[in-house]
Amino acid sequence: MRITTFPVLRRLTASSNGMPQNKAWTVASFPTGALREDNFKLVESPAPSPKGGEVLVKNLWLSLDPYMRGRLSQSKSYVKGVERGEVMTGETAGEVVESKHAKFKPGDKVTAPSGWQLYCCVTGEMLTKVDASRVPLSYFLGCLGTPGRTAYFGMKDICQPRPGETVVVSAASGAVGSVVGQLAKAWGTRAVGIAGGKAKCDYVTKELGFDACVDYKAGNLYEDLKAACPKGIDCYFENVGGTILDTVLRLMNVKSRIAVCGLISDYNTADPYGVKMFRSILVNRIKLQGLIVFDWLERYPEGNKALLDLVASGRLKTRESVLAGIEQAPRGLIGLLKGQNFGKQLVKLH
Ligand SMILES: NC(=O)c1ccc[n+]([C@@H]2O[C@H](COP(=O)([O-])OP(=O)(O)OC[C@H]3O[C@@H](n4cnc5c(N)ncnc54)[C@H](OP(=O)(O)O)[C@@H]3O)[C@@H](O)[C@H]2O)c1
Repeated sequence: MRITTFPVLRRLTASSNGMPQNKAWTVASFPTGALREDNFKLVESPAPSPKGGEVLVKNLWLSLDPYMRGRLSQSKSYVKGVERGEVMTGETAGEVVESKHAKFKPGDKVTAPSGWQLYCCVTGEMLTKVDASRVPLSYFLGCLGTPGRTAYFGMKDICQPRPGETVVVSAASGAVGSVVGQLAKAWGTRAVGIAGGKAKCDYVTKELGFDACVDYKAGNLYEDLKAACPKGIDCYFENVGGTILDTVLRLMNVKSRIAVCGLISDYNTADPYGVKMFRSILVNRIKLQGLIVFDWLERYPEGNKALLDLVASGRLKTRESVLAGIEQAPRGLIGLLKGQNFGKQLVKLH
């Protein structure tokens, strides 16, 4: 299902030297609390020409992801942040326009760490060629890309659900959460989502086939989650943190597992939440592990194949939230961090 939230895409104008005009969002300043549009600056210039070993890519889709908030900070993290004046970091899916690398030719579909821009020149080694003949190209940024692989390896290697167990996932209607719950169903477990609002919960149960979904905004999360998980929780796939994590910890079973994938409720604040129910980890002997998907780089082919098989056979569904035009990117990321997206957040660039 593809949902287009904003119509109208401005076409590119050709520059005087015949190269198309590039537009790129650079980092203007670092936010101290919530992200603002003026933390970014839009810069225009002619598209670059590839040098030896490089490929010019026309970016068709830009992925907006929660991790981007962390790149706009100089705090220590698992990847270095973006510097002021640099193009904002981000992954794109696009098409090769010109190639000076033996493995790529014009027309090839690729994903690239291009950043927030319409065109980019990257070395061939940084590109991933994808086969978009069976599925839409944009899926390689969502259920068949980083979010899908994150769900797959986090579930398979950290949560390790056994048939009949109960798996709970937060941000359940989102890019990662929607895959987690559908894998839980495919692997024979009870899948319970946590999401913000009735529409998202209805989608998770009626469209994606989860057994239940709890609306944390309804104000009764503990009781509602307890009712949805009558045998307690065996696996929790954590995407948000904060009070939701504390509530889930109260319902975890003995010898249960938690994959800490994301803590989005803390990303936009200088005052992170302090977990209160830590004792549950001790008394229930919970195995809790942080997850950064790059750690599975060597096994990406396994994840890619498993996910593609599920998508191509109709057993894994996805939903996209599409903004039209690169101008919308800052607004899209700000909205994502407030839960305004409904499905994988993308920007259609051309
Ligand atoms: N560790 C890794 O390698 C890795 C890789 C990819 C993603 N992640 C993490 O996975 C999580 C989900 O990412 P995604 O790409 O799938 O995003 P997403 O779920 O498509 O979108 C983010 C969702 O988070 C929820 N949210 C936002 N602010 C919230 C808040 N204050 N409290 C509770 N929920 C809030 C919203 O859903 P509701 O409306 O339902 O609240 C929003 O739609 C993020 O934490 C991200 O950082 C980690």
